[in-house]
Amino acid sequence: MKGEELGPVQQAFVEHDALQCGYCTPGQIMAVEGLLRKEPHPTVEQIRQGVSGNLCRCGAYIHIFEAAKRAAELNRGGAV
Ligand code: FES
Repeated sequence: MKGEELGPVQQAFVEHDALQCGYCTPGQIMAVEGLLRKEPHPTVEQIRQGVSGNLCRCGAYIHIFEAAKRAAELNRGGAV
């Protein structure tokens, strides 16, 4: 990642509209980053557990889970 280039998790959140108001987004992104460092191929349940410490008042969880799956794919060299 260089300068203003987005990292895989950030990119995935943009691609999947994984935020509404954005209040929880920094915490969600850090949680997904931490999860993917421990588990590069997470299941949906592992993603759910991984972000469970961050509440999203807007209910963007489905998009957050999709973004986490996409970030895992990007980390494995998936198409941008
Ligand atoms: S996007 Fe609004 S609280 Fe999560």
